[in-house]
Amino acid sequence: MKKLLIAGNWKSNKTVQEAIAWLLEWNAKCQMLNAKWENATVVLCVPFTLLYPLKQEIDRLQLPIELGAQDVSPFPDGAYTGEVSARQIKELSDWVIIGHSERRKYFGETDEILAQKVDQAKSAGLHIIYCVPDKETTVPPGVDAVAYEPMWAIGTGKSDTPENAGEVIRGIKVKTNIPVVIYGGSVTQENVASFVSQEAIDGVLPGGASLDPEKFANLIKNACNPR
Ligand code: 13P
Repeated sequence: MKKLLIAGNWKSNKTVQEAIAWLLEWNAKCQMLNAKWENATVVLCVPFTLLYPLKQEIDRLQLPIELGAQDVSPFPDGAYTGEVSARQIKELSDWVIIGHSERRKYFGETDEILAQKVDQAKSAGLHIIYCVPDKETTVPPGVDAVAYEPMWAIGTGKSDTPENAGEVIRGIKVKTNIPVVIYGGSVTQENVASFVSQEAIDGVLPGGASLDPEKFANLIKNACNPR
């Protein structure tokens, strides 16, 4: 059985208080659902400000969820005001999303900057989820997972079809040789099983559906314990 990667992307949402409340509610809901995911890695990619408090709580309660950042500095530690370096992230989490289309669109991130970010993240030992909007976009070597996220499907409620996503993901795997490729774009608790049941699709990257603890718990359950 393939091992799934389920990574929630909170984007620019939640205060510390809201994040801790989410975690406790999510944990309670998972226990209620008796959701089991030995066959999945579940990651929560959160704003930098939430990494430390969430790590404290996850460690304290020994919860089966890993943390990730949503971006990383293209530079090492040093005089780069406002940036958070890969080494700083690695102290608090094991994962990072690089190249999300919102970073490309709103912050002008180019393939060159993104390759620098990948280098930094790699040298700090972070696991990298690299996002691409299609199968043509360059993927730098050394990333751990690719996320195929068609821009028109992000936050629109109009996901790609599982069949087409599977086809694009097969193409990405052939082109990049990266064995783990996941799908993102309007993934919900209702449609998640249809994506992960495609042979080529190794997991999902939900945005909106990860903001609600109950929806995210259901999504994990439906991905890992399909009826
Ligand atoms: P939605 O699940 O809200 O469409 O967001 C997808 C996404 O961009 C995850 O990175």
